Amino acid sequence: MGTTTDHEEAGAARPRPPRDVLGRYRETTPASRELWERAGGLFPQGVSGQAKFFAPYPVFVDHARGATVTDVDGRRYVDLLMGAGPLLLGHGHPAVLAAVHAQLDRMVNPMMPNRASLEFAERLRGHMPHLERIRFANTGSEATRSAVRVARAATGRTLIAKFEGNFHGSDDAFLVSTHSTEPAGTPERPEPVLDYAGLPPRLLDEVIVLPYNDAAATVEIIAAHADRLAAVIMEPVAFSSGGGVPATRRFARAVREITRRHGIVLIFDEVLCGLRLGLGGAPGYLGVVPDLVAIGKALGAGLPLSAFGGRADLMEATLGAGAGDRKIFQSGTFTENPLSIAAGHASLTVLETEDALERADAAGEALRTGLREVFARHGVQAAITGVGSIVQMHTGIAEVQDRRAVLAGDRALTGAVMLGGVARGVLWPPVHPAVTSSEHRRSHVDRVLDAVDRTLTDLQGDLL
Ligand SMILES: Cc1ncc(COP(=O)(O)O)c(C=O)c1O
Repeated sequence: MGTTTDHEEAGAARPRPPRDVLGRYRETTPASRELWERAGGLFPQGVSGQAKFFAPYPVFVDHARGATVTDVDGRRYVDLLMGAGPLLLGHGHPAVLAAVHAQLDRMVNPMMPNRASLEFAERLRGHMPHLERIRFANTGSEATRSAVRVARAATGRTLIAKFEGNFHGSDDAFLVSTHSTEPAGTPERPEPVLDYAGLPPRLLDEVIVLPYNDAAATVEIIAAHADRLAAVIMEPVAFSSGGGVPATRRFARAVREITRRHGIVLIFDEVLCGLRLGLGGAPGYLGVVPDLVAIGKALGAGLPLSAFGGRADLMEATLGAGAGDRKIFQSGTFTENPLSIAAGHASLTVLETEDALERADAAGEALRTGLREVFARHGVQAAITGVGSIVQMHTGIAEVQDRRAVLAGDRALTGAVMLGGVARGVLWPPVHPAVTSSEHRRSHVDRVLDAVDRTLTDLQGDLL
């Protein structure tokens, strides 16, 4: 069992840490260190959520605006984490704030249907016609979990297939071959690995693992299990553990064809990439329409909001009034809570009427281009991946198309470059991919490039 995660490993894997980078980080973040030490007496590892930790200790954030966050030492960072994806319009967008404030005065959460959520669903379907039926939830994990449930109930099968390195949230079945740093099997025939303790070993028989971006091998594996597979779930852009790598259109088409042929439900997990790839979501980008999708993150512009939906026949058969013995459970105290829906409405209006997405994409593109130049100037091999507003760096490797390539890179060096960036005012925590927002300008990108450039200079003679 490979239980070491990206977040823990970065900056800690080398026996001798990069002295200059670590020293500078400690020097610049004393208040964060103090709070983190205090937090250790309450929160295991000093954090409420694994992804918030990076070695030697995380930055504690005090406030945020636009493309920046300010820490408890009063240092302002260019934010490339952006809440791990939701803040496509930046922190504190005035339209989102106004809508949330107005909704706060009106009603918080009645746990009953309300007009605003219906109208938001109608607006979403206007952009994503494949959402014939939809249900709102709070988190991405709830959305992916519910989509899988629909698939299982509708097909009467239990097996699911996921791609090695694709992350779909915190449910048991998704913690198979996602974060593990020790993949099993061959690249073409990956075998399932439990990423953590506390997971039932039966998952190894219930989850089939597929090789991302390898159409021929994926089709063969799916065909071999076809009559037992309820669903294939995939990230159109493999994000947090997959390296910020988009699926190729040819690969997505092959997955669509083989799943359709065998009546297997194809689920796109667009929780991260949903609105970032355009208002039509991943189907618009890849030219492939799945049976179900899960969306989240940017949907609520920073407030908790997710959704799943797709084919009316599947959704009605398992959630509709006449579902009978195929009925699944999907509910939650905070689902379609009006605050999140209000934020979603406001954000969608901005995306519809302004060039917000184009600005986020332009910053992403400038970052990718600039990073390639900086690494080349220092003679450090690096693959810069991503699409639109999604960016990731991988040192020690020329190309990345899947999780195994991510693991083959020099992740300790990548983590050190990112930590050095944090010490120089860029919140790009090791080793999560970066995302940009509509509020990132050329000046922010230049600050990031300068921080990476200086960090690479710091690291000369130590790590390089
Ligand atoms: C692709 C993808 N799916 C699902 C999730 C889970 O979403 P949440 O953290 O809201 O449960 C994430 C979160 O990072 C994600 O990136």
